[in-house]
Amino acid sequence: MCLQKSDPIIIVGAGAFGLSTALHLIRNGFTSVSVFDKDDQIPPRYSAANDLNKIVRAEYEDPFYTNLTIKAIAAWKTPLFAPHFHQTGFLHCVSGNAPQKAIDTLKRFQASAEEHAEIRSHVTPLKGQTDIRQACWQLEGPLPGWYGYLNRYDGYAHSANALAAVYRAVQASGVRFHLGEHGAVDEVVYVNTREGKKSSGIRTKDGEFHPASLVIIAAGGSAGQLVPEVGKNVVAKSWSVAHVHLTDEETSALRGIPVTYARDLGFFFEPDPKTNLLKLCPMGGGYINTDPATGVSLAPTSLEESAFIPEQDEKQMRRLLEQTLPTLSDRPLVRKSLCWFADTNDSDFIIDYVPGTTSSVVLLSGDSGHGFKMFPIFGTWVLDLLKAEKQPVTRWQWKKSPSSDGKANWGGDVSWRVGESKEISEILPKRSSRL
Ligand SMILES: Cc1cc2nc3c(=O)[nH]c(=O)nc-3n(C[C@H](O)[C@H](O)[C@H](O)COP(=O)(O)OP(=O)(O)OC[C@H]3O[C@@H](n4cnc5c(N)ncnc54)[C@H](O)[C@@H]3O)c2cc1C
Ligand SMILES: *[C@@H]1O[C@H](CO)[C@@H](O)[C@H](O)[C@H]1NC(C)=O
Ligand SMILES: *[C@@H]1O[C@H](CO)[C@@H](O)[C@H](O)[C@H]1NC(C)=O
Repeated sequence: MCLQKSDPIIIVGAGAFGLSTALHLIRNGFTSVSVFDKDDQIPPRYSAANDLNKIVRAEYEDPFYTNLTIKAIAAWKTPLFAPHFHQTGFLHCVSGNAPQKAIDTLKRFQASAEEHAEIRSHVTPLKGQTDIRQACWQLEGPLPGWYGYLNRYDGYAHSANALAAVYRAVQASGVRFHLGEHGAVDEVVYVNTREGKKSSGIRTKDGEFHPASLVIIAAGGSAGQLVPEVGKNVVAKSWSVAHVHLTDEETSALRGIPVTYARDLGFFFEPDPKTNLLKLCPMGGGYINTDPATGVSLAPTSLEESAFIPEQDEKQMRRLLEQTLPTLSDRPLVRKSLCWFADTNDSDFIIDYVPGTTSSVVLLSGDSGHGFKMFPIFGTWVLDLLKAEKQPVTRWQWKKSPSSDGKANWGGDVSWRVGESKEISEILPKRSSRL
């Protein structure tokens, strides 16, 4: 499409993909960029990236993404992003109880790291408890049957702080923000033109129409609400997140620990020194929220609906702590929630024009739970798309929807996940009876 630098562009969603896109548009001379988000604060509470931390690991089973992450890590080291990147290393293991699938995945990740010229020298194989303790003395638990590797090329990013930093930077550069009730987008508005159906802008929940030459949808687990055409190609899915609240001394003692990940159990991060929170995630197939009428899973609309985690995840997090940091394993878990992302069946992102919109609507979606590490460079891929007639990267193209009986629950098929996805309705906490 021939977009002029002064044409009005609307981005819906001030999460990871939306803010990165705003940053790269403004850096590349686009002068009329507006961002809409339904929350009244940034980082938005609905964003999957509104979190203490996300893993930034370069090795993928797929060298395409390994190479992109190497670029992203270089960008994490530039002034805007560096304060939020912590290259603590990634201790990647399986426990003695891991199913074969988890072991195979670990091996592929390790091979990917050991084969890559840039990463290789940072990798140390860990054959068992002794090696692991040598790499991280704080892991004083029994580590039963654990083995894997440590990759010092990797680490984590403080994702909420990174979002806030980019928000401040782009706002200072002239990006306009519409938040809360004025930022909640109800629909993309279309008109019929000689070339075909085309978007003229968006309408917010307060009834206001906002014109734009280009509408970019970066709505995370809610993408299907605004771009229903995507259908079952994007499945809103969630994983549990919880924290242990440490003392100052405990936080201090764990300073610098690598992201510690057992493929069959889950992972935790270096505690956040500001809040003394140690974040934990259990590994599993996740939870979906399928609308029986459409067969499409969308993120719940209220935060309250996601303010819990299932019992079995809590048990799994405690098992992870028993094996690694046993003094914490009986502590209360706080700030528990389900965190929603946009899953695709091949874990590929979607960065493309929505078909039948005369290139007036772009969908950024399908982060598949691994998109935050790309935050510093994601927006450059949107610029590449705007320069091209069509998405040059085949795997990021819009895919045809599967037929109506297509499998929209591929939780257990993804190579790097363990376990099947469940419906959120199956795991809702039981309401206490009032009788
Ligand atoms: C538990 C969990 C762990 C993860 N761990 C990692 C990790 O270790 N490493 C990694 O790289 N990635 C990780 N991810 C993935 C990462 O968080 C996502 O890839 C990233 O946040 C996707 O960005 P996004 O912009 O697509 O969506 P989001 O960041 O979720 O942002 C979407 C935004 O759209 C807004 N929105 C939605 N609907 C509307 C509307 N109608 N109007 C206005 N605004 C709207 C929302 O308020 C939200 O702010 C994890 C995700 C989860 C859930
Ligand atoms: C990744 O980068 C390496 C080294 O630069 C290169 O040899 C390889 O072909 C790249 N792979 C892909 C899939 O881009
Ligand atoms: C994913 O879905 C597409 C259709 O959208 C289909 O062509 C493809 O085979 C599916 N891939 C996997 C791995 O299931």
